[in-house]
Amino acid sequence: MTQSIPTVTFSERLRLRRQETRIDFLMTVPRRHGPIARMSIWGGFFKAHLVTDPVLAHAVLVEQADAFTKGPALTYFMRPMLGNGLLSSEGEFHRKQRRMLAPSFMPKRLAEYATTIVARSDAARRCLRDGETVDVNNVMMRLTLEIVGETLFGAEVGAEAAEVHEALSDAMEQMSRTVRAVIPVPPTWPTPGNRRGMRAVARLDRVIYGLINERRRSGVERNDFLSMLLALRDEAGGSMPDKQVRDEAMTIFLAGHETTANALTWTFYLLAQHPAARERLERELDDHLNGRLPTMADLSKLPYTMMVFKEAMRLYPPAYVIARRALRDVEIEGRLISKGNLAIINIIGMHRDPALFADPERFDPERFSPEAEKTMPKSAFLPFGAGPRVCIGNHFALMEAHLVLATIAQHLRFERAPSAPLVEVEPLVTLRPRGGMPMTVRRRTIEA
Ligand code: HEM
Repeated sequence: MTQSIPTVTFSERLRLRRQETRIDFLMTVPRRHGPIARMSIWGGFFKAHLVTDPVLAHAVLVEQADAFTKGPALTYFMRPMLGNGLLSSEGEFHRKQRRMLAPSFMPKRLAEYATTIVARSDAARRCLRDGETVDVNNVMMRLTLEIVGETLFGAEVGAEAAEVHEALSDAMEQMSRTVRAVIPVPPTWPTPGNRRGMRAVARLDRVIYGLINERRRSGVERNDFLSMLLALRDEAGGSMPDKQVRDEAMTIFLAGHETTANALTWTFYLLAQHPAARERLERELDDHLNGRLPTMADLSKLPYTMMVFKEAMRLYPPAYVIARRALRDVEIEGRLISKGNLAIINIIGMHRDPALFADPERFDPERFSPEAEKTMPKSAFLPFGAGPRVCIGNHFALMEAHLVLATIAQHLRFERAPSAPLVEVEPLVTLRPRGGMPMTVRRRTIEA
């Protein structure tokens, strides 16, 4: 006998559909319906179960992972852009690709990228003038795009950076418009929006295939993901076809910048609102680095900086929901999810659930002190997902954010006027600040 599952009401479904009320709905649903609630989405096309509970989330993402595929947004609507890359591929093919790519994302390998991250962050903060108002989200998007561009393709992408940035934004905009629609139009239909999206993908393809051809032709081996992708061999000794190299590169490009940029933006926002935490972070950086650029070896000496970043990801998880689709009837902890139905893991709902985090709306980096982290309920904090599809870039993202914060916050602050209204979230594919994040630059250090 399986337990019955409460159903979300029609008016609640409208709250989920509307961007302005979506996050509030996701944060309050467990109080009204408990750990799992049923609803239909996308004009009734899919039946979905909204899961706001660490034990159930663990069952879907880890224990019974083989009973699920990714949700339709990734496997279908984003496919024209991502192809069969790691984020959207499935089954044995995904397992094989993941095995091949995993060593390149190991912490030891990532150390090679630390210099690029610090150099780019230092250059970005030097461009900011004391007293000017900037959109911190824009600054972070450009910075993380430059970082992923250079670590993926080496310096060659520099010349085409503006074109890539524009095409990537166009393609992302189109994708998130499709996924947001009441009844999404298949990506292959020649609507004006789809045609715009396809044009953007074609521009990106031109740049990426150009870089692949150039690298193959020159035979030069570099310290970047592209050289690594071209050198990879499967168990039978075969190399990846160009189309697969393109799909993996496009996936890393896309998955690897907007998430990190948004998490960093929310971190600076929270620091501006919590001067005591900001001063503690600055003290840690000043005491340990004394004005010099950080390296990978410094990170273990800067624990508070990482605690701040994790707490920002708890309050504003960039991937605020994760979707799966049942391949067969699955029973999780006595609840039935029927074949074809979706399980939507409500990451932000768990991160802000008072049953899991005391006073959950309060910004408190101490929750991530090494001692406190040990007592956190298992699977309650899931910014990177879990199980076989856990973010492969999680070590990269944490190292990148740690180094970006250490480089920038040593020299400047981003401030907001005390009277400025709170910034609202805009839940698109990731959790962005609505209307950007205008903040005033205050230099902490005077340099020649
Ligand atoms: C703060 C930054 C980041 C966050 C919050 C984040 C979050 C996530 C999440 C939640 C997933 C799992 C999605 C699911 O289970 O459906 C994921 C997958 C993935 N992420 Fe990240 N990510 C971040 C940064 C990065 C970076 C820097 C890279 C690459 C350099 C990256 C590459 C990927 C890839 C390739 C996958 C697919 C893995 C697979 O399915 O095997 N991510 N990410």
